[in-house]
Amino acid sequence: MKTEPVKVSPSTHWVGANETEKRLFEGLWAIPEGISYNSYIIKGAEKTALIDSVLGAYQEEHLEKIRKVTDPADINYIVVNHMEHDHSEALPKVLEAAPNATLIYTPMAHQMYKAFFQHEPKSLIIRNDETTVDLGGKTLRFIRTPFLHWPETICTYLQEEGTLFTCDLFGTFRRLPENKVIDTDIKEIDKYIPDSSKKYFAGVMTRYRDYVLKAMEKFNQLKIEIKVIAPGHGPIYTANTKTVMDLWASYSRPDYSRKTVIAVGSMYGTTLKFIQALTKGVEDAGGEAVVIDVINDEPAKALAAIMDAPALLIGTATYEYNMFPQIQHLLYLLQVKNLTNLTVGIFGGYAWGAGGAKHLTERLDQLGFRRIGEPVEVRGAPTQEDLERARSLAKAVTEDAFREKRI
Ligand SMILES: Cc1cc2nc3c(=O)[nH]c(=O)nc-3n(C[C@H](O)[C@H](O)[C@H](O)COP(=O)(O)O)c2cc1C
Ligand SMILES: [Fe+2]
Ligand SMILES: [Fe+2]
Repeated sequence: MKTEPVKVSPSTHWVGANETEKRLFEGLWAIPEGISYNSYIIKGAEKTALIDSVLGAYQEEHLEKIRKVTDPADINYIVVNHMEHDHSEALPKVLEAAPNATLIYTPMAHQMYKAFFQHEPKSLIIRNDETTVDLGGKTLRFIRTPFLHWPETICTYLQEEGTLFTCDLFGTFRRLPENKVIDTDIKEIDKYIPDSSKKYFAGVMTRYRDYVLKAMEKFNQLKIEIKVIAPGHGPIYTANTKTVMDLWASYSRPDYSRKTVIAVGSMYGTTLKFIQALTKGVEDAGGEAVVIDVINDEPAKALAAIMDAPALLIGTATYEYNMFPQIQHLLYLLQVKNLTNLTVGIFGGYAWGAGGAKHLTERLDQLGFRRIGEPVEVRGAPTQEDLERARSLAKAVTEDAFREKRI
């Protein structure tokens, strides 16, 4: 479904695209509600700027939309907030139609542009947080926000309107409904929580959560008043911007909830037989159990559940003398996303020669998790006694985590 350009304000039009093909964003994250690649045309009295671009697959659609708002040859500036492919692949195509445009980006984004497109465009390099360009009554200011979500990233502020173009910051895994890019209603925002907004954060931003807080501090220090948030993915917020920022601050801190995630990898359901006893143990310690089935629940859902959990119980069926592959994958994601500051406990099973729990133990210890108790590992199905051990383990892990995190 092709969308039309949408007016965000008298000066600003959305000229982005919705993803229509991909099931996974970045080849990893499920996007059942889709995703949009947002790009914006801003017209001042004298000059015109394009903010970001779209994935290459949508370059024709993108250009068509730009044409409906302005003659591309009149574009004076193209702001590259972030060089990731989802915002930059269409840039060479846009530049063919906008040969007079000067690209605005950081030194590192400039290097990346040359490396990807083997071409040296007219460039204005951003080296501080003070640079502005005047479009004629509309002033753009560029603020460096490293690691949101690559090191070369900036946000662009349209001063007269208080609009902050944040690219990946404040994005959501969500396509935009036709002719409706603007969300002003707080109830609409509530609909994304904890789903697409939190999963987006978990998948894309968790590793850089400190940088999210630093960027928000910087906006405060620079007295950037944010009336409109225009991100690179998902809805634009023309009201309730504080709610969105508070939400992201809470993802970034994180605000631990009194919960224990039970993540389990099971082929035939035997390992799932522990869940009831584990849940009871978590509840005995005053927590809430959240179960993640690593086969059927996608990784972003697992990360979104774990990122504000102080405790994690990991269960695995033994698979070729080792842990189940998706459990290994989950551990890898926890490692690269810096989500290892948790208390953990282990459970699992085997049929003839154990190995799952052993490898899981070694890996968790290596990654610096706070591991409590002995793994509850059983041959075949758990007995009543095994279930009792599992309950005690879940209680001990949960109690330790709540004590550790003072919650
Ligand atoms: C592909 C595959 C590989 C397995 N590898 C081992 C193994 O190396 N050692 C072992 O004792 N059991 C192994 N098992 C048996 C399972 O670990 C055991 O049946 C377990 O109880 C299954 O748990 P689940 O029902 O939660 O999947 C394997 C099973 C499958 C299907
Ligand atoms: Fe990105
Ligand atoms: Fe992006």
